[in-house]
Amino acid sequence: MKVLLFFGLVAVALAEVTRFEGEKVFRLKPVLDEHVTAIKELAKSIEVDFWSPDSAELLTIDIDVDIHVPAMYLDMVYTILQQSGMEYEILIEDLQAAIEGQADNKPTPRAHSYTKYNSWDKIQSWIASISSSNSALISKQVIGNTYEGRPMTVLKLGKRSSSTKPAIFMDCGIHAREWISPAFCQWFVKEALSTYGRDSQMTSLLNQMDVFVLPVFNIDGYDFTHKSNRMWRKTRSRKSGSSCIGADPNRNFNAGWCTLGASSNPCSDTFCGYSPESEIEVKNVANFIRRNKSIIKAYITIHSYSQLLLFPYSYTYDLAADHSELLKVAQGASAALRSLYGTRYTSGPGAATIYPAAGGSDDWAYDLGVKYSYTFELRDTGRYGFLLPESQIKPTCEETMLAVKYIAAYVQKNL
Ligand code: ARG
Ligand code: ZN
Repeated sequence: MKVLLFFGLVAVALAEVTRFEGEKVFRLKPVLDEHVTAIKELAKSIEVDFWSPDSAELLTIDIDVDIHVPAMYLDMVYTILQQSGMEYEILIEDLQAAIEGQADNKPTPRAHSYTKYNSWDKIQSWIASISSSNSALISKQVIGNTYEGRPMTVLKLGKRSSSTKPAIFMDCGIHAREWISPAFCQWFVKEALSTYGRDSQMTSLLNQMDVFVLPVFNIDGYDFTHKSNRMWRKTRSRKSGSSCIGADPNRNFNAGWCTLGASSNPCSDTFCGYSPESEIEVKNVANFIRRNKSIIKAYITIHSYSQLLLFPYSYTYDLAADHSELLKVAQGASAALRSLYGTRYTSGPGAATIYPAAGGSDDWAYDLGVKYSYTFELRDTGRYGFLLPESQIKPTCEETMLAVKYIAAYVQKNL
């Protein structure tokens, strides 16, 4: 028995796959200050994984709180819920079962698929093959390596031209566990290539502009969610002095860095990093955008979940100088998205619409001078959260295409 246990532990240590049997995701509905205090206290005493908002720092009254609770703390959570009289729902009864339910039942194809969540290895070979087989419309460049040494490749989509073209920059996968996001960047590239010459808007867009696509921003984190811990969010950087790994790339940009809605605790999921751009992935992207600042007219970053279309600012409640135009375009894009399957999005500036959170890529790009700067939070609103089933990849990407194309068309018209 002891021997078995020993080998069991060795096996677990070698594979190091985190499992989530019996763990639950709750939606708490704080309507009193006492409720907020109770959740904050809870977060201090046990390890709760915040799904929405992103951390305890961001809690306020009247916004729903989605938290993932390990099995050993369930009794404690139920007691606190009872004592405080707070309303709640259980979104996910068993997280491990939900993780396993995310993939559709078709046997896993060995190849890359647009309707599955592809591993980094598959995405990497997809990047190589799609760019070599469409050389008239696509080129690639490595903008640097990740902390663990993986190449960050930006795809440039657009008809070749002798003069420099204005461009749109889009990234996916800033946060590792938001798997629908990289799926969208892959979908976007496929759609752009297959509708060029057939769809008049795509044709005109790629004739006049280039679209830079970074399919996975936080590659190390994404790979880690596939191999070790499905719920990982941050980068995978290490620094002596802390045993906690990684920083939140969307708190690490130099925009009101670490002032609000971010944590200076390296163990927090919203750790802002040791300095702005301390994360090499952030530095690589920021350098690329700075270098191409004169041509980049729009910045689009894809996250999940909550069904939101956000724009600056998030590091302050002040309205952006271009607030009314940004809002008008966001509302148009949301309406376009909704026209396909009725999916409702809320749009507005980050701070007022969800919560203030400094150090985000959208605010940074905007302050650099990229006026049309948008953060998408894709499906859903919490039924599956980060574990959106693969059966929803296609409809989610189709509707999101309409919103992204709406923004692109507007930018193009207003060059
Ligand atoms: N859920 C995203 C995050 O917290 C929202 C980003 C909105 N923009 C921002 N700069 N905070 O990272
Ligand atoms: Zn995110």
